[in-house]
Amino acid sequence: MTPLERHVREAFAAAFGGAPDCIARAPGRVNLIGEHTDYNDGFVLPAAIGVETLVAARRRPDRQVNILAADMDGARTSFDLDQPILPDPSHSWSNYLRGMLFAMQAGGSELCGADVAVAGSIPRGSGLSSSASFCVATGSAFNALAGLGLSATAIARLAQAAECDFVGMRCGIMDQLASACGQEGHALLIDCRTLACEPVAMPQDLAIVIVQSGIVRGLVHGAYNERRAQCEQAAQTLGVAALRDADMAMLKAAKERLDPLCFARARHVITENDRTLAAGKALNAGDLAALGRLMAQSHASMRDDFAITLPPIDRLVELLQDAIGEKGGARMTGGGFGGAVVALMQSDRVGAVIDSVNAGYRTPNGDRPTIMIEQASAGVSLLA
Ligand code: GLA
Repeated sequence: MTPLERHVREAFAAAFGGAPDCIARAPGRVNLIGEHTDYNDGFVLPAAIGVETLVAARRRPDRQVNILAADMDGARTSFDLDQPILPDPSHSWSNYLRGMLFAMQAGGSELCGADVAVAGSIPRGSGLSSSASFCVATGSAFNALAGLGLSATAIARLAQAAECDFVGMRCGIMDQLASACGQEGHALLIDCRTLACEPVAMPQDLAIVIVQSGIVRGLVHGAYNERRAQCEQAAQTLGVAALRDADMAMLKAAKERLDPLCFARARHVITENDRTLAAGKALNAGDLAALGRLMAQSHASMRDDFAITLPPIDRLVELLQDAIGEKGGARMTGGGFGGAVVALMQSDRVGAVIDSVNAGYRTPNGDRPTIMIEQASAGVSLLA
């Protein structure tokens, strides 16, 4: 039993007595490449990672849902499934669970009351999808408790609806699908239009290193939603259903008709889709030099065309790129405006690269950054 599972079991027993009926675990994810392409019906290449959220739950005979945050000094909140489920500003940590149950009910699921304890190891605001993993774990636990028979993909779709319709973040489906459908030892090349997930084996000697910049994303839903609206506007001007259907020739031909910001946003998405497909091939072939070039181009495009990076993160990426050299690469990962940087390199480079980061980068508090060495892990599952 992992320390996190022991922790959530003990917290559950202390709060509610006895043991949960089930514990669902859902991992966080790191996106290797393909940023802000998912809601444009495009391609992404994430991997589920070892950090995770656990949701321990036991069915209740009534319609009450009691939630304990095992990580937050035992904070608790409750609500009734027969009343409209609303966000709770005084227990905002519970809103992802509330949103998931809201989305499940809206989707026709017959839920049951439950006692629930939640614990997790994903740093919040780091671009590693703590919220998606919380929603997916919640969906999986209630799926088991109420015998709903939902597939992992169905849970991912509902988790996305929870964020879009309840939390107000108009996100795509990447984080939820990666958390639900991840495969050990593999990244997933996801077609966000069809939701087809193609596993791409991670080469044995390839290390995934994640450096947390220490710049915690604040409330960036506004900036995220604005980028999405700009992409939708560009697609409309180009006369396509989504930017997935556009190419650079179409974009250039429409330059005069597009607002310059929308032009730049669309250029990022169109080129990033191409890079993501190329990166899937490079990963498959174990071509680390090509992967590194694609990651560098992706970061530059996020910086210059999509405007979602920050100067300290640009410097951290450059530091990593210099330390890694030609065999591998680095880029900011996730929605942007802070969070983490992902680096791929041969395993034997990891020690030297970590030394360079520790020597050359400090978080806004003046500390050394937290560095995670990760493996591609399996998607959502039930522990008990
Ligand atoms: C966030 C969203 C995802 C995706 C990324 C950017 O993580 O939740 O849907 O859009 O940003 O790639």
